[in-house]
Amino acid sequence: MGNSLRAAALLAFVVLSILVSLLISSVQQFGAQGVFNVTRGEEQLPEALISQLSERRREIVPLLLLNRDEDNFSDEPLDSTWDTTVWDKIARGASRASVDGMGCDSLVDMQALEVLGSGYTKLVVKANLVGGMAVALKLVNEQGIDMGKCLEEFDEPEACRELVAYKLKKEMVLLKRLQHPNVIGLRGHCESQRRAAGAEGGRLAVILEQGTPLQMIQLLQSPWEDRFKVCLDLVHLLHFLSRSPLGSVALLDFQPRQFVMVSGTLKLTDLDDISAELTHCRAGTDCTLLFPQRNFTVPCVRGVCEGLNQKRNMYNAYRYFFTYLLPHQAPPTLTHLVDHIMNSTGELKGDINETVQAFEELLAQYQSGAHLHNLPAAELTDYLLLRRVGGSGGEYRCWLSYSAQGCVLSVHSPREAAHICNSHSQCSSFSLTGQRTWSGRLLASFRSSSAQLGPDNTSDMYVKKTTVSVSPSL
Ligand SMILES: Nc1ncnc2c1ncn2[C@@H]1O[C@H](COP(=O)(O)OP(=O)(O)O)[C@@H](O)[C@H]1O
Ligand SMILES: *[C@@H]1O[C@H](CO)[C@@H](O)[C@H](O)[C@H]1NC(C)=O
Ligand SMILES: *[C@@H]1O[C@H](CO)[C@@H](O)[C@H](O)[C@H]1NC(C)=O
Ligand SMILES: *[C@@H]1O[C@H](CO)[C@@H](O)[C@H](O)[C@H]1NC(C)=O
Ligand SMILES: *[C@@H]1O[C@H](CO)[C@@H](O)[C@H](O)[C@H]1NC(C)=O
Ligand SMILES: *[C@@H]1O[C@H](CO)[C@@H](O)[C@H](O)[C@H]1NC(C)=O
Ligand SMILES: *[C@@H]1O[C@H](CO)[C@@H](O)[C@H](O)[C@H]1NC(C)=O
Ligand SMILES: [Mg+2]
Repeated sequence: MGNSLRAAALLAFVVLSILVSLLISSVQQFGAQGVFNVTRGEEQLPEALISQLSERRREIVPLLLLNRDEDNFSDEPLDSTWDTTVWDKIARGASRASVDGMGCDSLVDMQALEVLGSGYTKLVVKANLVGGMAVALKLVNEQGIDMGKCLEEFDEPEACRELVAYKLKKEMVLLKRLQHPNVIGLRGHCESQRRAAGAEGGRLAVILEQGTPLQMIQLLQSPWEDRFKVCLDLVHLLHFLSRSPLGSVALLDFQPRQFVMVSGTLKLTDLDDISAELTHCRAGTDCTLLFPQRNFTVPCVRGVCEGLNQKRNMYNAYRYFFTYLLPHQAPPTLTHLVDHIMNSTGELKGDINETVQAFEELLAQYQSGAHLHNLPAAELTDYLLLRRVGGSGGEYRCWLSYSAQGCVLSVHSPREAAHICNSHSQCSSFSLTGQRTWSGRLLASFRSSSAQLGPDNTSDMYVKKTTVSVSPSL
């Protein structure tokens, strides 16, 4: 048992090492070259593969043509099949814009590749660029299901890689079209020259803002405030997607693993599987949303299912995020607002605008501290305020703490902190350093009677008066 575990671990390590060294060599092959030259030797490829390739290309075209207000990707008319120079234009169009300014030269001499995550299609690695910028590189996942399926069917490594890379290209176009604070930032891309001398061509690396994969388990153990932030960010994203430059967009593969966190903000990173299509209908019965637990029907208005994409996203947000993150440990006096949100999203009663409003109302209530008005007013008078005094030691652990060692919680005011300290049997003091959480609440450190107090001009210390009387040294 122990041996087989060790063997499995070793194997995993070896596979990972090979993967990483493969990556390094493939990325190094990019070299510093920005010129695209798409020469296709497709005549030798199986017909089915060629048709899949052109299918993927065709998928990208409408996304480009919708681009009316910004760069004009298509300055020549496209014929109905495909113009092999279109991708070249995407590339040029994309690199013109400042948001997508990085190219292959920025990857030269980069350091420390480490796998951040992978999925059916893509592999994401961490890279530190010369100059210290940390980015994520998205590449075709050579070990992924997509690549595996294609190889099994056609056994054409290079063409298969190209086929899978179209999903990356589509994602790049979408990232550019759907820029938003809750969508991962596109920094640039690098594509190696196809069939360059000696090297395998057709490799693409998309350069993205670096995040950390969303860890649901970890999030479940985080303070309510942080879980609420994730839901709030998600609602803002869905609001944007409901009226995006591409129209109302549905995320077809809506899962926590398609999101990452960047400095405390939720961002969508997997965009290749989205749909901006309208569903045409003759009657409401054509407009059904099927989920494992629930089915919904939206109205058929002028031949189109009204709000279908938006509602699909909302119910997915409810079932993958809100049910896990929102109700648990919500401030007791805010539970009526939380319940209302849970009910209107879980039953798809409201639209996304109403949902955004409900979240903003919840945020405003939380920030105002109005929900604390019925705390006993006298509690703070049990504490002696020592200005410019900090503490060390006396740490104890508490549920949903911001710190792994001690008890650090967010509070609206010293009064709320006093209320919390009174409810912890170990607590005999708390300090406020002026550090705040994303919503503006204060971070309070709670300590037991074994804490050492000392001068600290960044902190105010509140000591329980009963404790002060037994430590006359102060
Ligand atoms: N910018 C990023 N920073 C950190 N991790 C990322 C980033 N983008 C993606 N990931 C991780 O990589 C995984 C695979 O990326 P994704 O685009 O979802 O690929 P796939 O289409 O194959 O599912 C994601 O589940 C996520 O954990
Ligand atoms: C691309 O290849 C074609 C034919 O192989 C050649 O005519 C053209 O000059 C090349 N373009 C660039 C930019 O290298
Ligand atoms: C984009 O190109 C089309 C022709 O393909 C032209 O009609 C349109 O005016 C161009 N738009 C901009 C913003 O340049
Ligand atoms: C949803 O609809 C499908 C097909 O119409 C049906 O098979 C399924 O039982 C329904 N599920 C629920 C939960 O109503
Ligand atoms: C919403 O509220 C109704 C009535 O109060 C209740 O029957 C229903 O189960 C609730 N739904 C959810 C998803 O909480
Ligand atoms: C939703 O809000 C936007 C503004 O953010 C507004 O333009 C749009 O008309 C609203 N939609 C509905 C259905 O109320
Ligand atoms: C806090 O104390 C440090 C020295 O311990 C001093 O350098 C700093 O200026 C002080 N800051 C304030 C705001 O008094
Ligand atoms: Mg994914």
